[in-house]
Amino acid sequence: MRMFRQIAGAVLAMASVVVLPALSATPAASDPDARAEQTLRKLRPAERTTLLHGLSAAWLPPPVPPGYVPGAGYVYGIPRLGVPPLIESDASLGVAWLGGRRGDKEPTTALPSGPSMASSWNPQLLQQGGAMIGTEAHAKGFNVLLAGGNNLLREPRNGRTFEYFSEDPLLSGTLAGAAVAGIQSAHVLSTVKHYALNDQETGRAFHDVLISEPAARESDLLSFQLAIERGQPGAVMCAYNRINGGFGCGNDWLLNQVLKRDWGYKGWVMSDWGAVHQLDFALAGLDQQSGQQIDPQVFFDKPLLDAAKNDAGYWARVDDMNRRVLRSIYAVGLDRHPPKLRKVDVKAHAAVAEQVALQGSVLLRNNGALLPLPGNLKRIAVIGGNADAGVMAGGGSSLVHGPDGPAALRTIGPEGPFSKMMNETYHDSSPIKALRARVPNTQLSFRSGRYLTDAVAAARQADVAVVFATQYMSEGYDVPDLSLPDGQDALIAAVAAANPRTVVVLQTGGPVRMPWLGSVGAVLQAWYPGARGAEAITALLFGDANPSGRLPITFPSSEAQLPRPALDGAETVEPGFVGRGRPGQTLTINYDIEGSDVGYRWYARQALQPLFALGFGLSYTRFDTNCSNPVATPTPQLTCSVRNMGDRAGAEVVQIYLTSMAGTATRRLAGYQRVMLAPGESRELRIELEPRVLAHWRDGQWQQPAGQYLLASGRSSLDLDPPLTLTLPARNWK
Ligand code: BGC
Repeated sequence: MRMFRQIAGAVLAMASVVVLPALSATPAASDPDARAEQTLRKLRPAERTTLLHGLSAAWLPPPVPPGYVPGAGYVYGIPRLGVPPLIESDASLGVAWLGGRRGDKEPTTALPSGPSMASSWNPQLLQQGGAMIGTEAHAKGFNVLLAGGNNLLREPRNGRTFEYFSEDPLLSGTLAGAAVAGIQSAHVLSTVKHYALNDQETGRAFHDVLISEPAARESDLLSFQLAIERGQPGAVMCAYNRINGGFGCGNDWLLNQVLKRDWGYKGWVMSDWGAVHQLDFALAGLDQQSGQQIDPQVFFDKPLLDAAKNDAGYWARVDDMNRRVLRSIYAVGLDRHPPKLRKVDVKAHAAVAEQVALQGSVLLRNNGALLPLPGNLKRIAVIGGNADAGVMAGGGSSLVHGPDGPAALRTIGPEGPFSKMMNETYHDSSPIKALRARVPNTQLSFRSGRYLTDAVAAARQADVAVVFATQYMSEGYDVPDLSLPDGQDALIAAVAAANPRTVVVLQTGGPVRMPWLGSVGAVLQAWYPGARGAEAITALLFGDANPSGRLPITFPSSEAQLPRPALDGAETVEPGFVGRGRPGQTLTINYDIEGSDVGYRWYARQALQPLFALGFGLSYTRFDTNCSNPVATPTPQLTCSVRNMGDRAGAEVVQIYLTSMAGTATRRLAGYQRVMLAPGESRELRIELEPRVLAHWRDGQWQQPAGQYLLASGRSSLDLDPPLTLTLPARNWK
């Protein structure tokens, strides 16, 4: 084998010089493949690895490279050939703050967290959000964004829940695709990440996820497949962890077979920072080594060239790696639309963030129509959550803050270079200030919630108590359980006992338990609501906007309902940002327990009643939905008419679930559409169903068995209308 590679390597080396036909002088800008091919042929030997490895670039010693902006990464360009450097920032929720190292003068806009975006069930809105982030990045000097966080919310304790979208592959994939398309519309290249099955932080650098191929294809992989089809991201970032034994960035099955062969992906695979352990990851499909100083060696420079000299496999890969990076640069237009330092319309950007928070907050309870609050209350007790200062942000590489940094901060640890990005921080959007602006004649009494005594006293004297409750999450750590920390459960229970007109506003990364649910009047799930979170929350509480968010993840009634009641590794792995573990430490996580039945599908399979189901969310109006006429061609689809039955404008999310598949009971979200309706208005919608959701992955292909498919519209995965029958023929496809 080695001998063959050596011979073939020599032949290829000659071929690249002699045999290949000349291409036309200037391929059209719209033909990125031809342009990549042409540039590839012009690369000098010393340039053949320039694009294949990059620096971790939060801080670099002078002299800094051309175009350098402190950010997550930097890859040298090839100016001689007009190939720009890749100037990279993290950006799942906005252009990342980086502990303030950029020294920005201009503001940066934080979108609400991933589950908030996903609660909108609104791909157009996510595309707008992406375009906003892309524009800000371009104006700050970046041309690559490490965005498109798209891991499935398989584990609700995952510390990065707030960076991802949902537990459902269709919802996640369509939304991530829209966000990526939005970013790239600004000529800023986006990733999707972290490919794949990187669904918990504990032991993230080494844990080994076991999952069968059908289960993976129908869940996490389907989510990435959809995101890639819709968003056409220039790059895919592979994950730290192992999947069925092989590291994410050295996983031949995931990278070569699934991504590049089966999905025909033409962009490049970049590593996560510190995720490259060996040179032969290049043969497994990794195209670019990021954050090279963090790895044991800069594998994708001299060692790669040396290997390519003697080995056809490596030789061919070096061509392919370059071709892929170049193709994406041209496809997104990085060379033709270089970043330009400038001011952007920050007001318009803040409005996008506010719109996401308005559409992404979910009203979970509204007993006796406590909400919307009237504008003439005498006194409101505002309790907890640092509501005097701001709204909560999630921590880690994705953290976004403006030039002034956080409005408030609590240290979480650990010490060291990453600590600033791990601290519990708050965006400068103060609920107290927003409430005061909305009801200037109402007396607001704020209590921190640190002591029950004064919180209860304030609640007792008020017409309404609003408790701001928080659950902090950060990259690098999973939460140990789904309780509200710092005694907040007891605080809410005590306040509600003192005043049943208690509204709980949750700012949490993901689902939490609510032992006090039955005793409070209302619950608004605001997630991490971003740069204009307080303004959006206030508008929703007072009915200036009508809540329309629907949960993108199931809330269990307790951890006992989860496929893994105890978090794997919680007792054996020391938490931390890098999380490398002790030498030789292993951790196996069995995802075949639930397989592709992630989240709501698991609850349906096990006949469990969760606290709140996927898709659930209340409104200040009511809707009537009637679906009919399911047809199989040209793509499976049905028609639904939706009417707003109330006297307020509002948005409904029509959700179509597959409940039986050729005689086998199942529960799968097969299609959805959000629609905004004026009072009394009705609209007819055509809802397309995703064919891969109506199929199994078996024996290397999608298989749709012949038979009857039952489809039900629902207000959640558990609140379903009587099903309609769609008859489908047998069909197999790749
Ligand atoms: C994270 C990535 C991030 C990268 C660069 C890693 O620790 O897992 O999401 O893009 O750092 O900051």
